[in-house]
Amino acid sequence: MSGKTARLLRYSFLSTLHLLSMRRLSRTPEPNAVTDDIDDVNDYDRVMSTVMALPYALALNCIWRVRGNDQGRSALDLCCGPGFFTLLLEQKLAYRQVLGVDLSRNMIQAAGKNALAAGRQEQVRFQEGSVFDLSSLPDQSFDLVTFCNGAHQFDAIGDVVRVLEQAEQVVKPDGLIFVLDPVRQKTARLTEGYLRVAGEDYLRQGLPAFHRQFRESLYASWSPQELASAVPGSSRRRWVQILPNGLPTFQMLVGVPSSQDRTYLRPAPASTELRDVIPRHAVFDWTLLSTAFAMGSSRTVQVARD
Ligand SMILES: C[S@@+](CC[C@H](N)C(=O)[O-])C[C@H]1O[C@@H](n2cnc3c(N)ncnc32)[C@H](O)[C@@H]1O
Repeated sequence: MSGKTARLLRYSFLSTLHLLSMRRLSRTPEPNAVTDDIDDVNDYDRVMSTVMALPYALALNCIWRVRGNDQGRSALDLCCGPGFFTLLLEQKLAYRQVLGVDLSRNMIQAAGKNALAAGRQEQVRFQEGSVFDLSSLPDQSFDLVTFCNGAHQFDAIGDVVRVLEQAEQVVKPDGLIFVLDPVRQKTARLTEGYLRVAGEDYLRQGLPAFHRQFRESLYASWSPQELASAVPGSSRRRWVQILPNGLPTFQMLVGVPSSQDRTYLRPAPASTELRDVIPRHAVFDWTLLSTAFAMGSSRTVQVARD
């Protein structure tokens, strides 16, 4: 049996198990919200050669399709880590000025080096700080605010609400708020099964600290219902939750301006646009992931408040 067939069968098996399982796995919060340990940062800094680049491609794809204000040119990336997704916002979606914020000094240093290595240090800047307090940034000043793989870092869903309230404060009225995060599986068996398929790449590439972080994040993730409950009641946006068909691996939550009645304004970009974001060995996994999302669901979880 080829490796591809084996992967397809394993995902199909997990998807069936997911359908048959009742939810009972309780959440185990992250041991450390802020990722400052140098081994953890060093492994995270090699993320672009792994399958973790796939959710970034998914996120770029979604923002491209949803954003109404495509003349907008400034973006803020919350919990930016080593800054690769932050850089992609400039490189792939043409945001001219992008700011990444993270509370980890080591992550911010890694991100600064990555911007320098990409020759984008003028356009993409990084700042050490907490996403719970964005008061140093001007109100209503960003066309896009992203929050990727950060929601599960926090102890309580109320913390995620606070971050989204901060995002509301700094995004322009016609701008977009975009959240991407893993989904907590229904059972430990499903979690370990998914970890075996999705996490083996990290071990193969010699990234044990990243593998451990990935495992912790799976147990700390929010269910789709929990994450949807983090939308601030006071939001002036319409919030849409996007989930894949089959095994829910990642979820997206998008706050679109109240004036935008359709979620998707344009078709997906040509696959060639994202070719260099997808590691060569992960093209098949990308096909599986992007197909699962193309066949998935998007539902409004909160309408805009007047
Ligand atoms: C799992 S990483 C995600 C990095 C990146 N966004 C990505 O998608 O790869 C989560 C990041 O959130 C940061 N973080 C945790 N609490 C934070 C806070 N209160 N303010 C800012 N960053 C925080 C951590 O230091 C870590 O770098």
